[in-house]
Amino acid sequence: MPISDLLLDWYDRHARDLPWRTSPAARRDGVRPDPYQVWLSEIMLQQTTVAAVKDYFRKFTERWPEVSDLAAARDEDVMAAWAGLGYYARARNLLKCARVVANDHDGRFPEDREVLLTLPGIGPYTASAIAAIAFDAPETVVDGNVERVMARLHDIHAPLPGSKRELTERAGDHTPRLRAGDYAQAVMDLGATICTPRNPACGICPLRDPCVARAQGTAAELPKKSPKKPKPVRQGVAYVARRADGAWLLETRPPQGLLGGMLGWPVTDWIEEGMPPHDPPIEANWHDPALEARHTFTHFHLRLAIRTVQLPMDATPHRGDFVPHAAFRPADLPTLMRKVFDLSHATLRDLEGDPELP
Ligand code: ADE
Repeated sequence: MPISDLLLDWYDRHARDLPWRTSPAARRDGVRPDPYQVWLSEIMLQQTTVAAVKDYFRKFTERWPEVSDLAAARDEDVMAAWAGLGYYARARNLLKCARVVANDHDGRFPEDREVLLTLPGIGPYTASAIAAIAFDAPETVVDGNVERVMARLHDIHAPLPGSKRELTERAGDHTPRLRAGDYAQAVMDLGATICTPRNPACGICPLRDPCVARAQGTAAELPKKSPKKPKPVRQGVAYVARRADGAWLLETRPPQGLLGGMLGWPVTDWIEEGMPPHDPPIEANWHDPALEARHTFTHFHLRLAIRTVQLPMDATPHRGDFVPHAAFRPADLPTLMRKVFDLSHATLRDLEGDPELP
């Protein structure tokens, strides 16, 4: 039996029930996936786990049920709703893409992979995923799960990322003309539930007979990966200021660059050699609680030292805006800034003797 039939039979019985997914049974009854939901879920799932995405997906689709609703949203509302998902360029491109689809494509996602590729934030992976899952185009969808399944099925020992092209070719060979969307999701589900990075459950795998790595006993060690360069460590300082009325000094970060467009505490530059110079948003008697927030970005680790201060009502910082305590929602902060808040909290409470802090 062809690999795709083995996988589709398995998917018909074991497809995961995911909030953005049209089940194989519903597909057979003629239900078509909503391209907006397919697009939204695929953007959210880049670099992020299914478990982390589910609640965000529900929140977005309840608040903005159609692409035209998202296109009309305020930038800061979308960035705040995305807070915690990471890779914030995705959220900025999400909004841009929604607006292009709403304005230039009559509110309908294009079906053609080449046209999808012209939209903001849609690269080769996402274009193929939308074309296959939303429109059943016979496109090959290759993510980390698919690479792992292909490396094992064909016992390919060349390391990633060099072996990407070969793995993609193999994946293409198996993509069926019909049910390409279910097939793409079947390989991803197999990679997430059976053909897992560690301890693959080969005994219950629908591909156990044709799988060469299983026969060779090499499944658990594939795919091989070229060693990664270690990430450098950068350091900086975050300034958490609270005014006497409880308002917080926050700023919206510039649109370009890391955490662009997100809400955050004023910070210094982040540098690799030593500590950057003190660069507070206002001259004041800053307190050093000897705490640092640690966070890892794609290309570096960050250690952000914290300074706190309580400011009088007439303070006039040269950066940032005071956000009244009642309007401040820690959940709107990206994870790094949330870590800073959680750490500085206790110190500020000590400074102020205020048991009412959130
Ligand atoms: N990971 C990325 N996209 C996915 C999808 N459509 N189904 C399951 N896992 C995924």
